[in-house]
Amino acid sequence: MSQKVKNQQLVIFGASGDLTERKLVPAVYDLYIRGFLPENYALIGVSRTKFSDEQFRNKVVFNNKHLKGKASDQDKMEAFAKMLYYQPIDTAESSDYARLVDRLNELDDELDTGNNITFYLSTPPSLYDTIAKNLADNGLNKRHDGWKRLIIEKPFGYDLDSAKELNNELLKCFEEDQIFRIDHYLGKETVQNLFVMRFANSIFEPLWNRNFIHRVEITSAESVGVEKRGGYYDSSGALRDMVQNHLLQLVAMVAMEPPAQVDSHSIRDEKLKLFKSIRHLSKDDIKNNVIRGQYVASTIKGEDVKGYREEEGVDPESRTETYVALKFFIDNWRWAGVPFYVRTGKKLPTRVSEVVIHFKPNHLPLFKTDTVQNSQNMLIMRIQPDEGVLLKVGLKVPGAGFEVKTVNVDFLYSDLADSYLPDAYERLLLDGMQGDATLYARGDSVEAAWEFIDPILSAWENDPDIPIYGYPAGTWGPENADELIDGENMAWRSPCANLTNDGIYCEL
Ligand code: BG6
Repeated sequence: MSQKVKNQQLVIFGASGDLTERKLVPAVYDLYIRGFLPENYALIGVSRTKFSDEQFRNKVVFNNKHLKGKASDQDKMEAFAKMLYYQPIDTAESSDYARLVDRLNELDDELDTGNNITFYLSTPPSLYDTIAKNLADNGLNKRHDGWKRLIIEKPFGYDLDSAKELNNELLKCFEEDQIFRIDHYLGKETVQNLFVMRFANSIFEPLWNRNFIHRVEITSAESVGVEKRGGYYDSSGALRDMVQNHLLQLVAMVAMEPPAQVDSHSIRDEKLKLFKSIRHLSKDDIKNNVIRGQYVASTIKGEDVKGYREEEGVDPESRTETYVALKFFIDNWRWAGVPFYVRTGKKLPTRVSEVVIHFKPNHLPLFKTDTVQNSQNMLIMRIQPDEGVLLKVGLKVPGAGFEVKTVNVDFLYSDLADSYLPDAYERLLLDGMQGDATLYARGDSVEAAWEFIDPILSAWENDPDIPIYGYPAGTWGPENADELIDGENMAWRSPCANLTNDGIYCEL
């Protein structure tokens, strides 16, 4: 994070929306406080709502509850607010863009930002191609005098065809290296650590393959439901919302080959190779190895909780999945035969995301162990919360004989008193400002991920016999998902909010 950042402007489309207030402005504020903003910097909010600069500053800075906790110093807050501007335009109206061009030129003259501009589209995805086209028609894609970049948020398409179409449309207006596709999981410090853990430690890399690993398990559970996003979510579902992007990115971080170099091309080339090696599921695999579920009403800690179909914005007969668990294989030299299990869901018992590497047992068990379930050696890389790494190893129980007990060797980020865990958006925005696309998704990888997901979506759509199981809100999803895991006494790990605890100790 130490590279010098050039003077520049950040234009946020959809600036009156929730993401700007909740994530983007707080992230830029943190960059400002930590001294990462360049000397000359402007953030220009754009959307249809008519705000003055002052009104916009009040909304996203002074009255922003997401920034308040961070804003200890009023002077700093005021100095920061002065870097923010607002330009109302109707983004679907091409004639409005001339006003934006004028405003950006004025600010560039005034602030000497080198005409370096990043456009962040925090709008409904249906507007991405329109905005990109209007920017290009107004010369805002040209880089002869200062760079121009485009950041877009997921979803990148709704299925393979629409993802390809979106890529084609964007590529008519911007070059691939100008397009930055945000997957906020890649901005998480703990996700980047997956890559470092593997390749910085000679004790892990030799074991990181089919000879020593029994299976890989990835969980991303949320205790919340769809909140106020029922309308969006009902046309998306867990597979599109979480698996196609965040969870496959985690799979890539865990399973990719070492890159030739640590740069955006080499790393993203390896990820693409990995996505292309995931074996596509046949119709039978989809029936047997992909379990979908939807939460139904229940009582959690004495309180009645709504089912998904009762949520605001959701079709009362909806067949959209709020849970999905799947088993698949990666057909390459390293992983042949090793099952990967991935699950995600809403209204599960706790919020937790983690990767679990289950190592194979010894060829010949010498000792009596306490392990009744799962492998003895597990490496758990916790993405959130209680961020850290946990290794489970067998140690001798003191006293007579050679009884073995599984104990925890752990590292918690919270133990590093002076460590600062930047928010994912903070890291990603800074990388974008520096033109580093390593932690952004590349168009070809997005398409390759859809190639794996698309057959599942079409099977679900076309085969009414594939069930969608109800699960009571507050439970770990449909029991059928337990049957996915191969092996005697093998089960999903039952993670708790606290990394070092397992299922039975969980305070749910
Ligand atoms: C978003 C999904 O991309 O990720 C949401 O659209 C989900 O449905 C969220 O809640 C999870 O992100 P995090 O960082 O809270 O795990």
